[in-house]
Formats: sequence, C-alpha cells, structure tokens
Amino acid sequence: MQKLAELYSGKAKTVYATDDADRVIMHFRDDTSAFDGQKIVQLARKGMVNNKFNAFIMGKLAEAGVPTHFDRLLSDNESLVKKLEMIPIECVVRNIAAGSLCKRLGTPEGTELSPATLEFFLKNDALHDPMINEYHIRSFNWATDAEVERMKDLTFRANYVLKTIFLEADILLVDYKLEFGRFHGEVVLGDEFSPDGCRLWDAATRKKLDKDRFRQDLGNVIEAYEEVARRLGVDLTSSAP
Ligand code: TMP
Ligand code: ASP
Repeated sequence: MQKLAELYSGKAKTVYATDDADRVIMHFRDDTSAFDGQKIVQLARKGMVNNKFNAFIMGKLAEAGVPTHFDRLLSDNESLVKKLEMIPIECVVRNIAAGSLCKRLGTPEGTELSPATLEFFLKNDALHDPMINEYHIRSFNWATDAEVERMKDLTFRANYVLKTIFLEADILLVDYKLEFGRFHGEVVLGDEFSPDGCRLWDAATRKKLDKDRFRQDLGNVIEAYEEVARRLGVDLTSSAP
C-alpha cells in the first residue's frame, strides 16, 4: 500500500490518497481541538491512543453488523480505511443529558434519557455545527430518506453494542457522535470513534474520562483516554504490523 498525496487535513486527522482509488490513509495527529477549532493544543500520545481506540471500537461495531470504513492499522498513528463520499451530518445519540442539550433545554447534567434520544447536526465549523432535522436534510438534499433511515438504524445499533462494552468496563456511555459516508452505494460508518467524539463517565464516581477534560480544563486528558483504553482491553503498546 503506497501512501500518496495529502487529500484533506481536518482538526485532528489528515487523510492521504493511496495507490488504491478505493482506500485512503487516516493519520491521527496529536492536535486536540474544541469549540469548533477555537482551542487547539498538542497532547502527546493522543494520535496513537485515538488510532488504536478507534480500531478496537470499529472492530466491535463491524462484529455487530455495523458496516464501517475501517480496514486495518498501518502504524501507531495510521489506519487504512475505505474512501467514502462523506454525508455532511453528525448523528448524536444521548443516553444521559450533557453538553449542548443541557444548554439548549435547561436539563440538569446527568439526567437519564430513556429512551435514548438522537439529534442531527450539520457539519459546518463556521456555523458552529447547527442542529438540523430530517426535513432540512431532505430539503437541502444532504441525504436521501433511505440513507437517513439507515443512519438512524446504525447509530442506535451502535448504541446497543457500545453501551454494553463500556458498562462492562464500569463506564457510562453518556453520548457520542457518528459520521457516515457512501461506499459504492452503501451507507458506511466513517470518521472515528474515540474519547474525542463521545462522553464517557466512570460508572461509580461519574468522573469525566473524555474530551470534556480538555474542553473544561480538567487536566490529565490523555491519561483519562488511556484509562478507558486499559479498562476496555485496547492494546496501546504493540506496534502495528
Ligand atoms: P454536544 O453536547 O456538544 O452537542 O455534543 C454531543 C456529543 O457529540 C459529544 O460526545 C461530543 C460529540 N460531538 C463531536 O464530537 N463533534 C461535534 O462537532 C459535535 C457537535 C458533537
Ligand atoms: N470537535 C469539535 C472541535 O474540535 C467540537 C468539540 O469537540 O468541541 O471544535
């Protein structure tokens, strides 16, 4: 697999073309951003931890029947993935109230949401990722109705699988964000699943173990990510083949 030109650089990852038109390389950098890129800092080991964390979770989701773009780890900071045509929508599932939901609706942080709720956000930093609904998605042709149904189905399927995996590690999956794309006509999970894009609380103490530690300047950000990885059994030491 030959690494070719840089295709795109986001806030935390850079994507490279390969000699296979259907595959790209995702490089996880140490950059950590919040508030739509207003706050950016380098945190040592973050790229490696998120790369391996993502590989582990994508594997679990694939086993559970969620099609993902993930192929294999290439190195500490790189993974080979399918090249998707990304749908510009963030699918957020919330099991417990936190973050923007609390601000928007005045709900106290920590309120149980039963059943879990789902929200869509438009991926647009300049507009601060505004919340949108299914009618917006239809009117602006961001995705077809069938694709929206599939994204909802896969996002909730992921919730079932991941809530269980985290709970077995004494961690509450508070909320998370997924992004999907198209691969030869099929809706496939893309981007990443790491503590950057979800909220994870220790089940006993409710200590925050995710990017809120960075957003809220709580310290020990990567130590918390590594703690989650250790509890899940993610191998952070071995270097990839
Ligand atoms: P929110 O409370 O800020 O709306 O975020 C909900 C969850 O989705 C939280 O785990 C963070 C994640 N998320 C991202 O990772 N990136 C984003 O751009 C947005 C809007 C949310
Ligand atoms: N991922 C977004 C950013 O980096 C939003 C956030 O996580 O706060 O700005």
